[in-house]
Amino acid sequence: MDLFEYQAKALFAEHGVPVPTGKTATTPDEARAIAAELGGKVVVKAQVKTGGRGKAGGVKVADGPDDAFAKASAILGMDIKGHTVHSVLVEQASNIAEEYYASFLLDRANRTFLAMCSREGGMEIEEVAATKPEALARIPIDPLTGVDLAKAREIAVAAELPEAAIDGATELLAKLWEVFVKADATLVEVNPLILTGDGRVVALDGKVTLDDNADFRHPEHEALVDIAAVDPLEQRAKEKGLNYVKLTGEIGIIGNGAGLVMSTLDVVTYAGEEFGGVRPANFLDIGGGASAEVMANGLEIILSDPSVRSVFVNIFGGITACDAVANGIVKALEMVGEVRTPLVVRLDGNNAEEGRRILAEANLPAVRPVDTMDGAAKLAAELAAAAA
Ligand SMILES: Nc1ncnc2c1ncn2[C@@H]1O[C@H](COP(=O)(O)OP(=O)(O)OP(=O)(O)O)[C@@H](O)[C@H]1O
Ligand SMILES: [Mg+2]
Repeated sequence: MDLFEYQAKALFAEHGVPVPTGKTATTPDEARAIAAELGGKVVVKAQVKTGGRGKAGGVKVADGPDDAFAKASAILGMDIKGHTVHSVLVEQASNIAEEYYASFLLDRANRTFLAMCSREGGMEIEEVAATKPEALARIPIDPLTGVDLAKAREIAVAAELPEAAIDGATELLAKLWEVFVKADATLVEVNPLILTGDGRVVALDGKVTLDDNADFRHPEHEALVDIAAVDPLEQRAKEKGLNYVKLTGEIGIIGNGAGLVMSTLDVVTYAGEEFGGVRPANFLDIGGGASAEVMANGLEIILSDPSVRSVFVNIFGGITACDAVANGIVKALEMVGEVRTPLVVRLDGNNAEEGRRILAEANLPAVRPVDTMDGAAKLAAELAAAAA
């Protein structure tokens, strides 16, 4: 999960990383009130989870409360690269002497953590990396020793930060590493990291990506989710404990086991090419158990997606045998009620014969049994295309 700048800065502040004082506003009146409370010059900043806000006109200096009202009016509702601005951060304007760059990230390719730091900050760091790679220091971090003050100093010195910024940057980097570790982040980035006119080093922007796999040990991360941006179907699926990802196509997919579902997506995409390019509408792994209830929950989510025109239920019986899954499908359809969308069902593996017999005997009008995965994918694609 990516955080908004204001959330990143709140996290920074919790761990002692210096950030400007500020608050978020969702209306120009609120922005005015915050500016009045802060006093002096403020900066009004669009809160969207995309880069290049400044260039797009989403970051503006205001010289007082009325100006903050005007700037917030202009920024709220703006579209920045497809993201609508619903809130702005109003914060004290800093007196910037110089702008640098700093980040910690998970370097998957090298199976380590990496610190990156540069005295050329503010602008797009990708450009610095491409045109002046020597200006971007890259220091691998040993996860066992992390970043203590000595390591932090090594990073600041490698980035050739000026003498005046070294002490401040050293302290800030050590605390930023603490944020990275304690929050289970895969990225913390500060661009720009600034040196102020009076010699302090401050994080003026913040970008944080949290590792969702660590959510179980961070109940506090739940509150950071941007509910408005979550797909409603994905949200419902999550509440039911389903492994569901919404995709853009027309063919609903249910399978048992992530690997089987992944290959089902491939096979269906391939089959769909013959039928006008119909594609999978979702990923849904109902896991090993595949009880009637889980099957019913899955079907209910998939069938409530208006873009779904056919469903492919692809089950490979293992520990949970096909007859149990077939009974699950029969019961699930009783629970869901009348189903108009065709369900192509392929059962294979443990007790497949018995499973197919149960489905045939149930004589469900929506169910179209097919014995092979390729055959089932083709039929599901054909039915989706025909229903268009
Ligand atoms: N509190 C502040 N005081 C003074 N200047 C600021 C402040 N916040 C931002 N700025 C100026 O605005 C520039 C852009 O701000 P910021 O880095 O937050 O946005 P951005 O880089 O456009 O967004 P993104 O990082 O999402 O691409 C900064 O480089 C800095 O010069
Ligand atoms: Mg920035």
